Amino acid sequence: MPRTAITGTGFYVPDRVVTNEELTRYMDTSDEWIVERTGIQERRWVREGMSGAEMARRASLDALQDAGMEPGDLDAIVLATLSPDHFLPGTGVFLQRELGITDIPAIDLRAQCSGFVYGLSVADAFIRAGQYRNILLVGVEIQSTGLDLSTRGRDIAVLFGDGAGAAVLSATEEEGRGVLSTHLHADGRHAEVLWAEFSSSKHHPRITAEAMAEGRHYPTMDGREVFRNAVSRMPEVVEEALAANGLTTADIDLLVPHQANLRISEMVRRRLDLPEEKVVNNIQRYGNTTAATIPIALAEAVDDGRVHPGDLVCLVAFGSGFTWGAVLLRW
Ligand code: ACO
Repeated sequence: MPRTAITGTGFYVPDRVVTNEELTRYMDTSDEWIVERTGIQERRWVREGMSGAEMARRASLDALQDAGMEPGDLDAIVLATLSPDHFLPGTGVFLQRELGITDIPAIDLRAQCSGFVYGLSVADAFIRAGQYRNILLVGVEIQSTGLDLSTRGRDIAVLFGDGAGAAVLSATEEEGRGVLSTHLHADGRHAEVLWAEFSSSKHHPRITAEAMAEGRHYPTMDGREVFRNAVSRMPEVVEEALAANGLTTADIDLLVPHQANLRISEMVRRRLDLPEEKVVNNIQRYGNTTAATIPIALAEAVDDGRVHPGDLVCLVAFGSGFTWGAVLLRW
């Protein structure tokens, strides 16, 4: 049975840097508060006219080049986002068109911050089943256009950023290489802990002026509840993945956690008893780009020479839903 190897990684972030200082012009906040609670120093926001599909295209071409492949070599696209360019159709088909290819399936996946890990699990199943050999997996997010930049929305607005990350997944018969296992979870009892009530197909029309005036189209979050669950679920699912493969935390060479908050990643690292150099953090520069954080962080780690053939790499995510999961792979 073939296994799934990551043969190329890439990313794209907008060139517009938004510092904490800039945010103080829009809302009552401070650089000290943001850095102390989240570790974030700056994030990227798209300029008017940039689409998720275009960011995804740039990240994808970067990943394809890294893999030594052309868009025409792909058998399928899996795209994870919670901020699609349009309600209908999904961003996946726009990406396919932007890449200049036709025919291959474009699967849109909605699992918020866990989107890349969920997508890797879906792609891995296709590859193991022998249905496809080369799959493009993308996480892309435009958060900036959906944030409440008034003081009312400051707890969330300071966290999120825009960006795209991509990976080329290819079937390999190489002994000892590729995805060892994937582990996905969800608990819908917490769906409203981090959510956006509008726009909603439960209502006709899907958004009203009244709901907008009340800010009910902006995401809201119980930050403490998210924090509490993230720092227990992430270590738990990493341990689950390790146990399934007869491995321990000492075997991990690199942990790439979803970049939710530096304090969350730091607590996860300590709970797993991993040294700092084995955990990738780049939230300081990009904020939380939701489905894009893991592929961006992975691509940067690869570019920085932090991943070597044979390394045991663990990707772990937690997010709105709640959804969470981990992937263990041999590079
Ligand atoms: N600037 C200044 N003050 C703020 C800001 C801000 N941006 N946001 C909130 N505050 C204020 C609050 O209003 C509150 O004021 P009060 O005491 O007068 O009521 C005070 O700061 C403390 O607020 P808390 O919510 O108690 O602050 P806390 O220490 O819990 O930190 C935070 C908030 C950073 C959101 C934290 O709960 C957290 O990290 N939660 C995890 C959420 C997360 O990472 N979400 C990412 C998306 S989900 C995911 O990716 C997994």
